Amino acid sequence: MDSLIIYGGKYGTTEDCAQKVAAQLDGEVVVSAVKDFSAEDLAAAKRVIVGTSIYAGSLNKEVADLLLSKRDLLLQKDFAFFVCGMRDYEESMNFIRESFDPELLQHAQAYAFLGGQYQFDKMNFFEKQVIKMVTKKEGNPVSGKENVSSLSEERLAAFINQL
Ligand SMILES: Cc1cc2nc3c(=O)[nH]c(=O)nc-3n(C[C@H](O)[C@H](O)[C@H](O)COP(=O)(O)O)c2cc1C
Repeated sequence: MDSLIIYGGKYGTTEDCAQKVAAQLDGEVVVSAVKDFSAEDLAAAKRVIVGTSIYAGSLNKEVADLLLSKRDLLLQKDFAFFVCGMRDYEESMNFIRESFDPELLQHAQAYAFLGGQYQFDKMNFFEKQVIKMVTKKEGNPVSGKENVSSLSEERLAAFINQL
């Protein structure tokens, strides 16, 4: 297999980005949720692309576990990753640089912060309240009634270009 894309998210944004990346790649591509990926696929893949969302200041837990447990294997592959989140670009790039293993970061052929979406129609009551509170505190309040997107097609295209 040429490329394995493993994503970890909750409400579909990271998965959508994974599918968009897959649609632009040549060769055999497998897209898999982090909870379902097969160890054989991982071993066989020439290139591994990992996608994760950020919740409450942390990478998706299963993705973080994968990056830790498969670190040595990933260092032997062509490797790239993307991150989805709603914080601003510079803050998120700093977060990425601080959160990822330095060797993996250096080894990555490409990495990107793509932005994200607040999909209030999918969130539970508690999550909606948290987002309304956080965005109000940050001086950029959202109503919680309409979905909000900061996804960047340009950054996605630039990421795919580097692969
Ligand atoms: C409860 C909650 C907490 C979040 N915390 C963060 C955060 O700390 N940093 C950030 O950049 N984005 C945060 N987000 C935004 C998500 O990363 C964004 O909605 C992303 O697109 C989710 O991807 P998914 O649909 O694949 O789960 C949060 C969203 C929710 C609902």
